[in-house]
Amino acid sequence: MTDKIIRIAIDGPGGAGKSTVAKAVANRLNIDYIDTGAMYRAIAYKFLNKGFTANSINDPDFKASVNQILDSSKVDYSQGVTTLDGEDVSKAIRTSEITAAASAFSAIPEVRKKLVALQRDMSRRKSLVMDGRDIGTNVIKDAEVKIFLTASPEKRARRRYEELIQKGLKVQYAEILSEMKKRDDDDSSRDLNPLTMAEDAIRVDSSNMNVNQVVDLICDEIEKHS
Ligand code: DC
Repeated sequence: MTDKIIRIAIDGPGGAGKSTVAKAVANRLNIDYIDTGAMYRAIAYKFLNKGFTANSINDPDFKASVNQILDSSKVDYSQGVTTLDGEDVSKAIRTSEITAAASAFSAIPEVRKKLVALQRDMSRRKSLVMDGRDIGTNVIKDAEVKIFLTASPEKRARRRYEELIQKGLKVQYAEILSEMKKRDDDDSSRDLNPLTMAEDAIRVDSSNMNVNQVVDLICDEIEKHS
């Protein structure tokens, strides 16, 4: 690859394999990877620790404290580690409670304003792979390569189910599928920066592809821009 800056935006619904694929692409190109979902999760973790839940969003108490909480929160993502106020929260933000809360809190304009500004700063003047929901449509509108990675809800739920079962967790496939569909709906229907495919993005349906095939396909696209 040349010294040219190349920013790769990977968007798509939850469970499509974005972070696995994005990490592998970044590794292959030896460039940074930023998981923006982890940043929304870290903010959700903070709100939950402050005693707010996804149901608090319209409460006057919550509205009165949002800005103060955000102003006093420091979120960072670097080298695979998510930090909140200097504490490594990478593991703590992977619970199903945080998954649901991150989706709900990510619809709040003040939350998006803070994290989008941070993400734009992180993506300035360097090559990187960034994944999320609004990277190609909002955070890095002029990204050199935009990928919309998707798969059927059934396939995504099946993969998540198998992953959790392997970890020894007792979960129900039907429950995972219904949570996944709800999150798809919420992430795609929110007013601000909803999950949509950028007009200039390449749509990759990974329903019948393995990780290596998806990574190869994306690297081929990147090669065209190098
Ligand atoms: O990618 P993830 O599942 O870790 O993301 C958690 C939530 O954060 C997701 O449901 C929606 C939100 N999110 C977002 O609104 N914008 C992004 N760029 C990334 C994630």
